Amino acid sequence: MIPQIPNERVPEVEVDAIFTDRWSPRAFSDEPLSEEQIATLFEAARWAPSCFNDQPWHFRYAVSSDDRARFSEALVEKNQQWAQHAPMLVFVLARKHFSKSEKPNRHAVFDAGAAWMSLALQARRLGLYAHGMAGFSVNKAAEVLNVSLDEYEIMAAVAVGRRDDPSKLSDDQRANEKPNGRKPSAEVAGEGSF
Ligand SMILES: Cc1cc2nc3c(=O)[nH]c(=O)nc-3n(C[C@H](O)[C@H](O)[C@H](O)COP(=O)(O)O)c2cc1C
Repeated sequence: MIPQIPNERVPEVEVDAIFTDRWSPRAFSDEPLSEEQIATLFEAARWAPSCFNDQPWHFRYAVSSDDRARFSEALVEKNQQWAQHAPMLVFVLARKHFSKSEKPNRHAVFDAGAAWMSLALQARRLGLYAHGMAGFSVNKAAEVLNVSLDEYEIMAAVAVGRRDDPSKLSDDQRANEKPNGRKPSAEVAGEGSF
């Protein structure tokens, strides 16, 4: 039995539970995802909005043990320790130029962020969790993915899977295996100018 982790998040105002139910665990079971689950995750991402509907995101994913080991190599050691157990590792990329005009797309990263969040929320609907990671070597990831950094920004890595018993984590990771809180709304949103 995987222990329940109490979700002590209290929204300031009522909000759909999908937002507070999403959090970033590190203890992942290596139970594989089905092809249908994988397709559903990327389908959710596909419907994200984007500037000029350019859809500049790109996801490269690893599910075989060989590919997961290769993708893992690009992660920093601290992330490797837990993320290597997840049944799917993903790199989120953003194409730096609009596909039609080839002009620089300064919104690509914003759009790729929207797409990853759609994937993360869909993951919860499937009973899964998605944990984003910035801790990786961009150059190593580019080498593993065989992608040009002139064409793509490699934004983040993501581990996706089911939660597992936190006993498999290191002491410090186990202590943090719970949903994080948030700044007060008034600190991040306000009416009118600063
Ligand atoms: C772009 C991005 C990069 C992150 N990088 C890491 C990382 O390298 N390692 C890690 O353990 N967690 C990482 N996280 C997870 C965050 O620490 C986590 O989302 C944040 O503390 C909020 O907690 P919550 O997702 O549980 O709500 C990252 C999250 C995002 C969105």
